[in-house]
Amino acid sequence: MWEADENEDLWAGSAAARSHHGANRFVTGDLTSDDLDVERGLRPQRLDDYCGQEHIKQSLRILIQAAQTRNESLDHVIFSGPPGLGKTTLATVLANELGAQIKTTSGPAIARTGDLAAILTNLQPGDVLFIDEIHRLNRTVEEILYPAMEDFSLDIVIGKGPAARSIRLDVPRFTLVGATTRSGMLTGPLRDRFGISFRLDYYSVDDLAEIVSRSSAILGVKIDRASAVEIASRSRGTPRLANRLLKRVRDYAQVRGGGAINLMIAQEALTFFEIDELGLDWMDKRILETLCRTFRGRAVGLTTLASAVGEDPSTLEDVYEPYLLQCGLIVRTPQGRMGTVAAFEHLGMEPPATS
Ligand SMILES: Nc1ncnc2c1ncn2[C@@H]1O[C@H](COP(=O)(O)OP(=O)(O)OP(=O)(O)O)[C@@H](O)[C@H]1O
Ligand SMILES: [Mg+2]
Repeated sequence: MWEADENEDLWAGSAAARSHHGANRFVTGDLTSDDLDVERGLRPQRLDDYCGQEHIKQSLRILIQAAQTRNESLDHVIFSGPPGLGKTTLATVLANELGAQIKTTSGPAIARTGDLAAILTNLQPGDVLFIDEIHRLNRTVEEILYPAMEDFSLDIVIGKGPAARSIRLDVPRFTLVGATTRSGMLTGPLRDRFGISFRLDYYSVDDLAEIVSRSSAILGVKIDRASAVEIASRSRGTPRLANRLLKRVRDYAQVRGGGAINLMIAQEALTFFEIDELGLDWMDKRILETLCRTFRGRAVGLTTLASAVGEDPSTLEDVYEPYLLQCGLIVRTPQGRMGTVAAFEHLGMEPPATS
């Protein structure tokens, strides 16, 4: 059935709608509630459903089995990597594999030390505590976390002034799972307290095609292998985007085709939504245009570039740059960001002559 809100969603990405709604935003995390429901439904629950990242899966299997054989809680784990690669998913999968409960919070949500103390003292033995965006914990909260991670104890100060005294509370043995898009922003002491650290990499087209096929089966959409590969190859190595593009192609197929997705429909839909063959969207192209056309390949500082394209500097750095760097379309130099020869070629421009 075609629903009004889905209709709006579909058109929100089109060039015609852009003048009213801003930009075509497939890449950034502006999830609609509909997207969130779909994400939740598509999220793998066990390691066997989790596609790709073979090395991480194998390591986790060994670590989990070893901890269970010794009847101990698993050492604290940190997952780092660009958005949408499956860090939150892995935290849930890990808890499921351990047969443990998961309590979820995030760095910015724990404002005061009391908040963290409340979370920690309410844990059950063996629980997984998942802290998303852990690099955004404030320093005083982080310092409370150190003894909790190391000795499963909490030092709390009660009272104020000369009457203040410190008491030590035991917390149950738990496994802390942290996730961060910015591993470079973790403090040394916090990083050192994680016994296990994994960095997630962009996915191969094959792995993404498997994710697209798996998601289509869950959504009840017919898709052939060639279309799954087509969507996968334009998903910039990111499962979240693969699922999002699949959903948009599904919408398009429903309206313009008979519902099933074939290669022609997939290509037509992806062109309609302005996703090019590298998976670059409107903002990526704007970044490249700015570097190559406006600045003619000269080095540009992050804040200058951010204001030129009208995006927040940290979004630019966390979300857009990693993929453009990985594709070799931009480089980061001490003087700033530069468009490469490949970027000029991608835009169909003549690179400036080098002196
Ligand atoms: N390996 C995978 N196999 C299948 N689906 C996956 C995989 N990794 C991620 N996904 C899908 O991609 C979606 C996004 O993943 P997830 O929310 O775990 O990313 P994230 O790394 O936590 O992102 P962020 O940094 O924005 O929090 C999930 O809902 C899930 O459906
Ligand atoms: Mg996440």
